Formats: sequence, structure tokens, C-alpha cells
Amino acid sequence: MPQKTVYFIEGDGIGPEVWAAGRPVLDAALEKAYGKANSLDWQELLAGEKAFRETGEYLPQATLDVLSGADLAMKGPLQTPVGKGFRSLNVTLRQTFDLYACIRPIKYFNGIESPVKRPDLVDMVVFRENTEDVYAGIEYKSGTPEAKRLADFLRSELGANLDAESGIGIKPMTEKGSKRLIKRAIDFALDSGRSSVTLVHKGNIMKHTEGAFRAWGYELAEQEYADKLVREGEGNGPVVIKDRIADAMFQECLMRPEQYSVIATTNLNGDYISDALAAQVGGLGLAPGVNMGDRLAFFEPTHGTAPTIAGKDMANPGSLVLSGAMMLEHLGWNEAADLIHASVEKTIAAKKVTVDLAAQIPGAQQVGCKEFGEILMANL
Ligand code: NAI
Repeated sequence: MPQKTVYFIEGDGIGPEVWAAGRPVLDAALEKAYGKANSLDWQELLAGEKAFRETGEYLPQATLDVLSGADLAMKGPLQTPVGKGFRSLNVTLRQTFDLYACIRPIKYFNGIESPVKRPDLVDMVVFRENTEDVYAGIEYKSGTPEAKRLADFLRSELGANLDAESGIGIKPMTEKGSKRLIKRAIDFALDSGRSSVTLVHKGNIMKHTEGAFRAWGYELAEQEYADKLVREGEGNGPVVIKDRIADAMFQECLMRPEQYSVIATTNLNGDYISDALAAQVGGLGLAPGVNMGDRLAFFEPTHGTAPTIAGKDMANPGSLVLSGAMMLEHLGWNEAADLIHASVEKTIAAKKVTVDLAAQIPGAQQVGCKEFGEILMANL
């Protein structure tokens, strides 16, 4: 009887509520799909405010130790404690476990009011590089000795034309970092029968970082997938690999979304584009996600701790439930994931939803977090 251990972190703010409403939906979907044959063994790990209350630390070593041997985990949102020099727990987790691929599927649920005419044409999965690019945190404030020294070096040693008083940020991108992300996107497209992989970059301007990302992507396609991928305009194949400049891609997402399926992109582009696509289909309320390394897959709803509604039974557990469905697909338990997707569709069509969705569904009746979870369960 396959039982899979999932380590979970409840999270701060609305975290405990969305877990309490959402986790039973995941267990019920498994039971409905497989009886007792497939199940999850949920093991809690401490992080965030709860960890601080119980251990005096926000990210206890015991949590890191368990995660370093784990392959499956799921977390609620973690607040970044306000305090000088405190690192974001999310960033720490991503860096500690080298969770280099942030994967966000974006598709439309019927009935939700969207700002565009045909949100139903969006069905994309964004693979965003998670460890490099301007997110590397190598930045120097204008006027500091570090910034001046670096500006001096760039000007005198390398002949760079920049103002000596510049604030300076560094954008490192490597072949290894780019290729492992693009490889994941290609493998996903092939395994799931998707029609294309689009490399999204700003290589016309940043030739040796964004442009290199594009070049490494095509090189990987030629070296490892020559028999499986065709380049756009070079014949017909089951999966096409193409590229778009980031600014043009934002237009494409609005004008011709049906021509795009899997997106592989750099860290900052990926941040923008996944939120823009989520807005196009009606907001972040139902957006699931995962941060993956070579071993650990760490699933999480994409929203934050929503402090203003925390503890008020108002939060939408949908993003957590859909992140759980992604995890079930990752395990190959697609039948249970399909039940969850169908239930979310049915629940939205019936218009009994949490406040965030009610604002986007004409004629909807508002229910609480707990009740929404119960409705999702009943509609499985
Ligand atoms: P947020 O996502 O918490 O809130 C943005 C807006 O969306 C608010 O109006 C909130 O009420 C609403 N909202 C979010 N999730 C909702 C849900 N499930 N149901 C109904 N409404 C929902 O983003 P914000 O305000 O920027 O961040 C708050 C805290 O969360 C910060 O400390 C931030 O660092 C943290 N955060 C953590 C993330 C994570 O753990 N992955 C991701 C984003 C933010």
C-alpha cells in the first residue's frame, strides 16, 4: 500500500486556516480515487512564528535536518519577520535546498471574471529559474565605498562607461543554472504531451546573460533532444522549441495565448510573467506552485500570509488545495488530482466561494474558509 511521507509547514497568518480547510480535501480525494491503496503520511515541521513560539528560532535546525533528507514537502505562507538583517525564510529554504525551478501552472477556471475577453485560452506552465539573475543579492548602494570601488574598477580596468556614483547590482547567470532549468521544462513538455517550449529572455539587450540563456537553451535542445524537439519554422514535430523577447512575450500572452504552452525563463522575467498570467485568468487566489531541486519538491500556494484577514475564517484555501493536486500529479496519482480540479470547477460554477473569489464572480454567495473546504470536499 503506497504511503508517501509529506513534510509540511503550517505557515503564518492564514496558513493554519487554509491547511485546516484544505488538507482534508487532499486526503478525501485520495480516498475517493484509490480507497486505502494510496495515502499521505503528513509530518509537521516547524518554521516561522509557530517555530519561534515553540523553540525560539524561526527556522530550527531540526527542520533543516529533516528536509535535507526529504523528497516531498509542502508549506503554507511564511511571513518575512521585520527586523534588520533577517533573511526571508522562503529565500533561505530555496537556497539551502537548491530549489532551482519555480513551477507555476496557470489556467482559467470557468465563471471567474477576468480582465480579458478570452482567459480560457491561457493554459501555460511557467518554469522560472530560482537561484540566479538579479536575485543573487549582489548589490551595492550608491555612494558606499563598495559601490565606488567597484565602479572605479569597472571604469579603469574594464573601460566601462558608468557614473562613479552609480548604485550597482550584479546579474550572474550560468550555463549550468540555465540548462538545468530549461531541461526540466523540456522534460515536462515531453512527458505531459505539451505542444511547445518557449524560452523567454531579454537577450537583445543583455546579450551575455539573457542572450546566453537563449543560446544555452537551443544548445541543450540540439545536444540532448535532437530527435524530440523541432525549432519553430523548421518542420513539424510533436514539441516545438522557440524563443521570445520578454516584452514581446507580454503582448503575446494577451493577444495569442493559445500559441504558448510551457515557458522556460530567467528569474526576474519569470516573476513578472507568472503574476501577469495569473491576473489574466482572474488573480492569484487559485494559483498553485512548487519550488523544486533535483531531490526535494517543495509545494506551496503562491499567496502570502494575508495578515489583514488572518484568523477571520475568510481566506481562500484553493491555492493550497491546487498545490496539493500538483503534488499528487508529481507522485503520479493523477486520478486524485483530476478529482480535485473537477471539484474546484464545480464549486466555482455553483458560486459559493470565499470573499476574494466572490468579488470576481457575478452573483456569487460568500462563504468562509472552513465551509469552502467542506464544499470542495463534497464536490469531489
Ligand atoms: P499576500 O499574498 O499575503 O496578500 C495580498 C492580497 O491578497 C491581500 O489583500 C490578501 O488579503 C489577499 N490574499 C492573499 N491570499 C489570500 C487567500 N488565500 N484568500 C483570500 N485572500 C488572499 O501578500 P503580501 O500582503 O504582499 O504579503 C504578506 C506577507 O506574506 C509578507 O510577510 C510576505 O513576506 C509574505 N509572503 C510569503 C509568501 C510565501 O511564503 N510564499 C509569498 C508572498 C508573500
